Amino acid sequence: MYLAREDRYSSMPYRRSGRSGIHLPALSLGLWHNFGGVDKLSNSRAITLRAFDLGITHFDLANNYGPPPGSAESTFGQVLASDLGVYRDELIISTKAGYDMWPGPYGDWGSRKYLLASLDQSLRRMKLDYVDIFYSHRPDPNTPAEETMAALDQAVRSGKALYAGISNYDSAQTKRAIEILRQLGMPCLIHQVKYSMFHRTPEQGLFDVLNQEQVGCIAFSPLAQGLLTDRYLTGVPADSRAARSVFLKPEQITPQVLEKIRGLGEIAKQRGQTLAQMAIAWALRNPVMTGVIIGASRPEQLEQNVSALKNLAFSNSELSAIDQILATQVKPHA
Ligand SMILES: NC(=O)c1ccc[n+]([C@@H]2O[C@H](COP(=O)([O-])OP(=O)(O)OC[C@H]3O[C@@H](n4cnc5c(N)ncnc54)[C@H](OP(=O)(O)O)[C@@H]3O)[C@@H](O)[C@H]2O)c1
Repeated sequence: MYLAREDRYSSMPYRRSGRSGIHLPALSLGLWHNFGGVDKLSNSRAITLRAFDLGITHFDLANNYGPPPGSAESTFGQVLASDLGVYRDELIISTKAGYDMWPGPYGDWGSRKYLLASLDQSLRRMKLDYVDIFYSHRPDPNTPAEETMAALDQAVRSGKALYAGISNYDSAQTKRAIEILRQLGMPCLIHQVKYSMFHRTPEQGLFDVLNQEQVGCIAFSPLAQGLLTDRYLTGVPADSRAARSVFLKPEQITPQVLEKIRGLGEIAKQRGQTLAQMAIAWALRNPVMTGVIIGASRPEQLEQNVSALKNLAFSNSELSAIDQILATQVKPHA
């Protein structure tokens, strides 16, 4: 039987999400990869429980995570049932709807019909009464933002979610979503954004909006799916994401990208960190950031990554050396 470590709250920092009452761990665990029906349940369980023992209280899911879609929620539901469920009040569980989930016109994008039906399905898969955060996974250009936000509002008011969030919205869409939610009397808890040394688009306006509106911000793929680690320095390992997933392709790991990774690795070494640790610290450096959501294919990666928190400070010369490496070479698109 699993018993959580008593010292699980001794070293993880928790940061307030915007002006809400919710604190999130500096590192959260995402279940996009390695928790599907195709993966070993024993490994998924080990990663989840190690995360909780390390003070990671927030687990991020979506309706479509797997493969097959939905199976990451089923896996997480199994781990809740066997081990973690007794700690439910210590957990923040998030899920989302917005990408293709089931056939026909009601299983994708941002209608009220899709979002609310999907939330019910997610709750059934995880065997939960409520999730803590329910996200609109992406903006829908063909559904009025009022309808999508009203669905989030209804999800919260019905008690099936405690907080509303958005993901992948640009600055203007974010401003509008926050405003509509506010008119409904429903604060937007958090925006989930793609942000890493290899993907800095949110610096061009979105962070300003979140700062002004005092809405939380959580970065996904801070390791650029594993590129910002030592994983690919000597080739593409058979058990790596680039070898196993359609979302990261070996063609993306060009000699120029590797050169960049090596250069960043040198700076990390001078800081006494691995590249993965420096990439996490770098993503957390902006005060707008409530936390980052990392993925892991084994518990040891989590252990290494959590140690990033021992050195979060950057000197100006480190930051400009990083900027220089990032600016001088090709973008890897991960
Ligand atoms: N809202 C959205 O649209 C959206 C989109 C994407 C992701 N997300 C969320 O963000 C979460 C994290 O995304 P992500 O998995 O792409 O994050 P990530 O942290 O950038 O990448 C995680 C992957 O990097 C590798 N890795 C991790 N630590 C390592 C280490 N210390 N050394 C070597 N390799 C290491 C592992 O890949 P290997 O398999 O190669 O070991 C791991 O699965 C997702 O699970 C999901 O919850 C949200």
